[in-house]
Amino acid sequence: FDVVDVIRTKRDKGELSPEQIDWVIDAYTRGVVADEQMSALAMAIFLNGMNRQEIARWTAAMIASGERMDFSSLSRPTSDKHSTGGVGDKITLPLAPLVAVFDVAVPQLSGRGLGHTGGTLDKMEAISGWRADLSNQEILDQLEDVGAVICAAGAGLAPADKKLYALRDITSTVEAIPLIASSIMSKKIAEGTDALVLDVKVGAGAFMKDLDMARELARTMVDLGSDAGVKTAALLTNMSVPLGLTAGNALEVQESLDVLAGGGPADVVELTVALAREMLALAGKGDVDVEAALKDGRAMDKWKAMIRAQGGDPDAPLPVAEHTEDILAQADGVITDMDALDVGVAAWRLGAGRARKEDPVQAVAGVQIHKKPGERVAKGDKLFTLHTATPERFERAKEVLADTVAIGNAYEGPKSIVLDRI
Ligand code: URA
Repeated sequence: FDVVDVIRTKRDKGELSPEQIDWVIDAYTRGVVADEQMSALAMAIFLNGMNRQEIARWTAAMIASGERMDFSSLSRPTSDKHSTGGVGDKITLPLAPLVAVFDVAVPQLSGRGLGHTGGTLDKMEAISGWRADLSNQEILDQLEDVGAVICAAGAGLAPADKKLYALRDITSTVEAIPLIASSIMSKKIAEGTDALVLDVKVGAGAFMKDLDMARELARTMVDLGSDAGVKTAALLTNMSVPLGLTAGNALEVQESLDVLAGGGPADVVELTVALAREMLALAGKGDVDVEAALKDGRAMDKWKAMIRAQGGDPDAPLPVAEHTEDILAQADGVITDMDALDVGVAAWRLGAGRARKEDPVQAVAGVQIHKKPGERVAKGDKLFTLHTATPERFERAKEVLADTVAIGNAYEGPKSIVLDRI
C-alpha cells in the first residue's frame, strides 16, 4: 500500500477498504507511516467522515495493535463505565464500589487529566499511599477479592490509539465522531469487559456541545460495542453546568466520600445511581436496591477495601489548600447559568490540571461551588471558593470566572441530569 493513496481516497470522499485500514493503522503504530501523513488522514476523516463498516474496521485494527485482557476466569461478571469527559465528573469514585457491592466486578482502567477536564487517577492520588499502577495479575486478583479496581490503563491496550490521540490533540482533529468512537471503544473492547455503560456528556463543558451530535456519538459507540460482543448502553447527560459542587482532585474525593456516606449533592447521587442501575442491569442484576447500599454503608465498606488493596489509607485526612479566596455574587436573583468549561479552566489554572502530560498536579487545588443554577442568591453571597497551594494563581483563575455565572429571574435548564438513553 501507498499511504499517499490512502490519504487521497479519504480526501476525495472515498471509502477506505478493510485492507487499507488494517495496513495504515499497523504501519503507523510501527512508525512506517509518519506523523504528518497520519495527521493528513485524520483531518480527511474529520472533514469527510467514515461509514459504519470503516469505523468498525478502524476500531478492530486499533484493538489488534496491542494486547487484549481477559476477565473470563473471574467468578463474577464484569461491568464497566466510560465517560466522554467533563468538569467535576468524579462519578467513577463512588460508582465502582457501589456496583461491586452487588457482586458485579468493575474494572475501571482510567487516565489522567489533560487541559480543563480532570483525570480519575489524579483525583485518586490525593489519597495517601494509593497506587495507580497495577500489573494485569494484580488487577485480576483485586477484581476477584474486592470486586472493584480503579487503576491506570496499561500501555499495552490499543497503542495505536495512544499515538493517534496525542496527534489529534495537537492537530485539532479530536472532535470527530468516528475518531472519538473508535478511540474509546478500541480501549474498552481490548480491556475485555462483559458490559459497558457510556456516559456521553453534552453541553459547554463537553466535546459534544449539542444533543444531536451526542446522540450520534452514543449510537456509534453502542453499535461498535454490541458488534464486538460487549453488552453496551449509553446515557446522554448534561455537562452544560459542572457536576456536583467541586472541581479539583482532593475536593472531588471528599465529595465522593460524602456520596458514599449517604449524602452528597443531588446531581452526583442521581447520576451515580442511574449509571449503577444500567451497569447492573446489563450484568443481569436489574432488580437490586442501589440507593440502599449508599445509605447503609455497604458501598463505603467496599470503597475502603478497594483503597487498602492499592496501598492507600482510606481513613487518612485529605490534603487541604493553604490558600483560599471567595468569589461573591454581584446581584440578587436566581442563578440561570454556570458555564462548566469556565469552572474547569479555573480549576486547571489553580493547579488541579496540567498543560503538558509530564506536569505535576496539585492535590489541593480546585473550585468549590456554593450555589448552582436554579438557586437564589443575594448580592454578596459566596458563589465560589478557590483553593490552591500557590496564591499567585488566583488572578488568572478569577479572570476566567468573571462572567461564568448568570443571575436572572428564572432557571430554564434541564431538571434532570440524564437527558436521554440509547
Ligand atoms: N476520549 C478518548 O479516549 N478518545 C477520544 O477521542 C476522546 C475522548
